[in-house]
Amino acid sequence: MSSGKPTGADDGRGDKRFETLSVTYGEEPDLSGGVGDVTSPIHLASTYAVDGIDMDTALEDLDPDEDEFLYTRLSNPTRHAVEKRVAALEGGDHAMAFASGTSAIVSTVMAAVEPGDHVVAFEDLYGGTNTMLKELFRDKLNVAVDFVDATDPEEVRAAATDETALLWMETPTNPLLRLCDIEEMAAIADECDALLGVDNTFMGPYFQRPLELGADVVVHSTTKYINGHSDSLGGVAVLSDDDYAQEIGFLQQVGMGNVMAPFDAYMVLRGMKTLPLRMRQHETNAAEVAAYLESHDRVAAVRYPGLESHPQHDLADDQMDGHGGVLSFELDGGLDAVEHFVAALDEFTLAVSLGGVESLIEHPASMTHSPLPAEERAELGITDGLLRVSVGVEHPKDLLADLERGFEAVADAASNGESATDEATETAVGDD
Ligand SMILES: Cc1ncc(COP(=O)(O)O)c(C=O)c1O
Repeated sequence: MSSGKPTGADDGRGDKRFETLSVTYGEEPDLSGGVGDVTSPIHLASTYAVDGIDMDTALEDLDPDEDEFLYTRLSNPTRHAVEKRVAALEGGDHAMAFASGTSAIVSTVMAAVEPGDHVVAFEDLYGGTNTMLKELFRDKLNVAVDFVDATDPEEVRAAATDETALLWMETPTNPLLRLCDIEEMAAIADECDALLGVDNTFMGPYFQRPLELGADVVVHSTTKYINGHSDSLGGVAVLSDDDYAQEIGFLQQVGMGNVMAPFDAYMVLRGMKTLPLRMRQHETNAAEVAAYLESHDRVAAVRYPGLESHPQHDLADDQMDGHGGVLSFELDGGLDAVEHFVAALDEFTLAVSLGGVESLIEHPASMTHSPLPAEERAELGITDGLLRVSVGVEHPKDLLADLERGFEAVADAASNGESATDEATETAVGDD
């Protein structure tokens, strides 16, 4: 599944391939003034010594590639290395690293719209983005937002108006793994003179590069696959348009001052070195887990773009170089079965988030998507029996054995006529 593609031709990237850029790009050893560290040191300084008074150099003329730094909020060597590498991996000219994926999204959207504008968004977005679009952009900043089923490009086209400034998409979506056709979305954005933003957190640049398919900007929560070890929070925006990049950079450094901290930047740089290796293993394991779940008679449905039963499997093959490590499935028996199932698991930790080397399982209705009203969840298909899995890089046989434990617990509870809710009540009473 290696992309094997060169990802850009400027800035010393040459025709280096993804795997090579992942390891070294942006942190080449410095023998001129430094000691030749083969990995970047963590530059913690908040401010930098200046070589005398200079009335001729403006702030924007400082060039981090020439080691010109003034103040860490504006630019920092460790963060700059992350920005260079992510830009190279996504095939963009500019990248800005933020304190979280959420701050990357809010700055990217804010730089694209103004009051009175209109946004068309996929209805099936990460819960936090959905809430941000409604409660910040729509309710406070007077930006109209329409949520549509973007699996059908005609729904997006029908929602777009002369005021539409931005199409905002995730593909695959969270938690239902629905896809939108990025090239089609880019065509619609062109028709209405809008920008197309894609949250590429679920696939990462190893499996999907939306800029190559016509998107104007890509964002990531680096908290997920790009860092990959569930130990750092961050986000990035990547794009090639100079003016739009300047607007986002203004919000990152001045308008909001919302930057990735040096220690997190160091962790992300380190995590990216193994991104291709991890992604390959995540995918191998997820494919095994998906096939196992699909064959299980207690599972009503499995959603994974790598399965032929996925309604958009062909589109997945067209626009992605792999199918990723996240899937969701519908357990028969609803909430009661879910409670017994997750309580019996050892390898899969019940936790939100995804993209780390360890396997996680989460219950969207009570966790990531609990801020959405129950009727909205029901309309989207986020039922009480739905579980989302982020498949880690452990041995797949251990993962399957763990899931088997979960199914056995559900079967035992059913044959004993137990309800997990009754048990929880008994425990609570017992604790008193
Ligand atoms: C697809 C997606 N985008 C954005 C975010 C937000 O990222 P962060 O938690 O780093 O702010 C998440 C978090 O789960 C996510 O799943």
